[in-house]
Amino acid sequence: MIKPEYHIFVCTSSRINGTQKGYCHSNDSTEIVTNFMEAIEESGISDKVMVTNTGCFGLCNDGPIVVIYPEGTWYGKVSPEDVEEIVESHLMKGEVVKRLEI
Ligand code: FES
Repeated sequence: MIKPEYHIFVCTSSRINGTQKGYCHSNDSTEIVTNFMEAIEESGISDKVMVTNTGCFGLCNDGPIVVIYPEGTWYGKVSPEDVEEIVESHLMKGEVVKRLEI
C-alpha cells in the first residue's frame, strides 16, 4: 500500500493489554470499523484510505469518536449507520459532515 490520502482513526477503546473495553466499544465502534472497510471497498477507494482502530481519545462523552486526517476532522456520536454518509460526503466529495463534527 502506498501512503494513504485519508487516514481514518476509529476509537474502539483498545487497551494496552489488547482488550477492548470502554464507551466507544460498548457503542458499536467495532461495527463502525467494519462498515468503513466495507464502504471504502465498495466505493473503489481502498487504495486511498486506511482505517485504524485506536484507544481512547479522552472524549468518551462524545463517543464513538472518528478522526479523519489529513484534515484533522473529529466526528462524535458516530453510529454504524453514519459511515456511508461520511464516506460519500467526506471521502468522495471532500465535504465534512457538519452534523457529526465536534
Ligand atoms: S473510549 Fe472512545 S473516546 Fe474514550
